[in-house]
Amino acid sequence: IMVLTGITLAIFMVAILRSSFTYATGIPECIPYDESFTQPRIEKLDDKLYQIFALAQMWSFEPSEIRLPVGAEVDIYLTSKDVVHGLNIHDVSLNMMAVPGGINKETVTFKKPGVYKIVCHEYCGSGHQHMMGEIIVN
Ligand code: CUA
Repeated sequence: IMVLTGITLAIFMVAILRSSFTYATGIPECIPYDESFTQPRIEKLDDKLYQIFALAQMWSFEPSEIRLPVGAEVDIYLTSKDVVHGLNIHDVSLNMMAVPGGINKETVTFKKPGVYKIVCHEYCGSGHQHMMGEIIVN
C-alpha cells in the first residue's frame, strides 16, 4: 500500500511539473504575509520582467487594468482584503485563490498580444459576477 501511494504521488508530481512547463505557468507558491502585499501596484524589473501586486476585494481587482508588452514575464502576488476570491485568466490557464491574510504567487508569460480577461471564479457574494479586470498585452 505504501509503495502504491508513493508511486501515485510521484505520478501526480510529474503531472503537475509537466503541466507547468506546457502552460508556462508556474507552480503555485505561498508567501509569508506582509502588509506591503496589500498595496496594489505594478513594478517593472526590466524590459520583460514585471511584478503585479494584486488585491481582490468585493467586487473588484486592483489594479483592474494592466498594460504589458508582448513577452512579459510576470510574477503575480495575490491577496484579498475581505473574503476568499478567485483569479482566473482563461487564455493563459491561470487559476489562483485570493485569501485574506495569505499571499499566493504564480508566474505567467504573456506570449501573444491581446486582451486577457481576469474573472473571479470563487463565489464571493452578490457582486461576484461583476468582479473582473483585464490585462492588455501589446
Ligand atoms: Cu470575488 Cu467572486
